[in-house]
Amino acid sequence: MTQDASPTAAKKLFIKTYGCQMNVYDSQRMAEAMGAEGYELTEDQAEADMVLLNTCHIREKAAEKLYSDLGRLKPLKAEKPDLKIGVAGCVAQAEGAEIIRRMPLVDLVVGPQTYHRLPAMMRGEAPAVLTDFPEEDKFDHLPERRATRRAPAAFLTVQEGCDKFCAFCVVPYTRGAEVSRPVDRILREARDLVARGVREITLLGQNVNGWHGQGPDGREWGFGRLIRAIAEIDGLDRIRYTTSHPNDMADDLIAAHRDIPALMPYLHLPVQSGSDRILKAMNRKHTAEQYLRLIDRIREARPDILLTSDFIVGFPGETDQDHADTLRLVEQVGFGTAFSFKYSPRPGTPAYDRAEVEGAIADARLQELQALLTRQQRAAQESMVGRTVSVLFEKPGRETGQMVGKSDYLHSVFVEAPQAQVGDLVQVRILESAPNSLRGALLD
Ligand code: 5AD
Ligand code: SF4
Repeated sequence: MTQDASPTAAKKLFIKTYGCQMNVYDSQRMAEAMGAEGYELTEDQAEADMVLLNTCHIREKAAEKLYSDLGRLKPLKAEKPDLKIGVAGCVAQAEGAEIIRRMPLVDLVVGPQTYHRLPAMMRGEAPAVLTDFPEEDKFDHLPERRATRRAPAAFLTVQEGCDKFCAFCVVPYTRGAEVSRPVDRILREARDLVARGVREITLLGQNVNGWHGQGPDGREWGFGRLIRAIAEIDGLDRIRYTTSHPNDMADDLIAAHRDIPALMPYLHLPVQSGSDRILKAMNRKHTAEQYLRLIDRIREARPDILLTSDFIVGFPGETDQDHADTLRLVEQVGFGTAFSFKYSPRPGTPAYDRAEVEGAIADARLQELQALLTRQQRAAQESMVGRTVSVLFEKPGRETGQMVGKSDYLHSVFVEAPQAQVGDLVQVRILESAPNSLRGALLD
């Protein structure tokens, strides 16, 4: 009998992911694609044979940050001349070959729609810079997602790109036009994830609730219908989705929040501003009042839903009155948590050349808004104390015998549970609220 040759040591891939959850998902898919080439992931950059920076371009300084991170790789590359360095994601899309011109230590530059060709690029069988929007669908060319057991909560991209063209936003340029994956592909990937131990899936898209894909019946389906189909998968306990646009909250999707227990009572619905003047200047195509009425309808369907949002302060032309309107909208809605950003002008976007609000004024407004949002977050967490929620355990906690997981409302919850396993979905009574998490006890 011949002895198998001992397997050669796997090459190591280090990935640094910046930005949104879609980048987290893309990094996983790139890791899987390189896995098929014999690369395994490492957490230690120093032992890497390949370093991949998966970048974000949403706010400014992204490119500067990338170049300084690349600068810091110089000693490693000097020590290991065979080290491959790749730049992926939205800065790669926006800067393209300029990255290699400025930083010759970079071997390849790959955009978000072309990373299925990463293995070919590594083998030298494809150009070193690929940032086009190809006709082919990268998902058709990526390896099937299987083999390993997965963490209990996973992401699944169902939609990419955006046709909304908000005046401040680079996404329509870096991620391209809206594309929805067809239902059968999505269901196949979801079933596969569940077969590997996943109990919660977060559906991802830059404009996820605008998803409209081809159904197995050849007809076009809307997002609510897709959620209903995914909810039928045996063993899948929880569904979430992000990020949404208010104008795409169809009746059927709102109804899904009422009808489908697996659809978690949590919704991230960016509004950006509470001033109609600014909303118009941002090209958001809805008013503050329309947003508020929409929230009423969503809460009618699912009264306990936890709402979150994104805000931009200091958008060009924003006055004190506009800012006051934003604060009022926040007071009226009552958010569970929210993200707020100071406006940053992005080259190539319609708002880029507009006169900016003075920095100190924008800073003060941001502080005021964040203080209000923090108070609301505290209040939402406090309101959980004494309630029973479900928690999906994702990892052991800081203390021995402790587990941590997410509640239905996406709060992190720490629980004493020495017998529990990662992946258990348990009922927990909330005892206490800490600044950014909750503490609870198992309900036997
Ligand atoms: N400046 C500041 N914030 C921005 N966002 C998007 N573009 C910009 C920009 N140019 C914020 C929006 C969006 C979130 C993902 O990032 O609030 O919803
Ligand atoms: Fe950007 Fe979202 Fe507006 Fe699209 S809807 S342009 S992704 S902020």
